[in-house]
Amino acid sequence: MALTEHKTETESIQVNGGGRRPRILLAASGSVAAIKFGNLCHCFSEWAEVRAVATKASLCFIDRASIPKDVLLYTDEDEWSSWSKIGDTVLHIELRRWADLMVIAPLSANTLGKIAGGLCDNLLTCIVRAWDYSKPIFVAPAMNTFMWNNPFTERHLVSIDELGISLIPPATKRLACGDYGNGAMAEPSLIYSTVRLFLESRTQQGDASVS
Ligand SMILES: Cc1cc2nc3c(=O)[nH]c(=O)nc-3n(C[C@H](O)[C@H](O)[C@H](O)COP(=O)(O)O)c2cc1C
Repeated sequence: MALTEHKTETESIQVNGGGRRPRILLAASGSVAAIKFGNLCHCFSEWAEVRAVATKASLCFIDRASIPKDVLLYTDEDEWSSWSKIGDTVLHIELRRWADLMVIAPLSANTLGKIAGGLCDNLLTCIVRAWDYSKPIFVAPAMNTFMWNNPFTERHLVSIDELGISLIPPATKRLACGDYGNGAMAEPSLIYSTVRLFLESRTQQGDASVS
């Protein structure tokens, strides 16, 4: 499944009427909150052009039938099956070029650690490792409270903050595992409204180009 075309990175977008729709790359990693990924895709696809990326672990939680028909879902297999020889496009580079903005929701403890450390062993982390940080990335972590409170989390959050990645913090509530505490992914509607408000406020400030 290859990207067939993309426009230039400097092309202007309009977030409210007129012009082309924002290109949002949604990515899911292997937190149980990935069961809400279809819902998240629906929220964004009403407003934006959406492409989706899923890690191998996240596919255990995502019901593919819940992904809107017009949203292409890319996996690590697509990264390798779309390349066979020099000159072929490389999927993580094409997606990085295509997107105006990336949202990783849910962000697992594992993927958070890999991004903070610059590791890139799957499609999602290769996109982030190749990212142009003048384009926004939002992350919505989701993990058990014990993982969230682990000292590694703070270290990794500091590292990704230094890259300019924006945090949509988790909520405190009853978690999927039955424990009560912080670590639940922000609701898809909140993630959507945060990103949309961000782009709208940038447009109002006269910066209609996201790149
Ligand atoms: C049933 C189950 C639920 C899990 N839930 C979470 C979770 O909510 N958050 C998290 O960070 N990891 C969770 N994990 C662990 C991740 O799936 C695991 O670290 C995986 O390697 C993440 O891979 P990824 O970051 O490449 O998607 C869970 C694992 C299992 C088996």
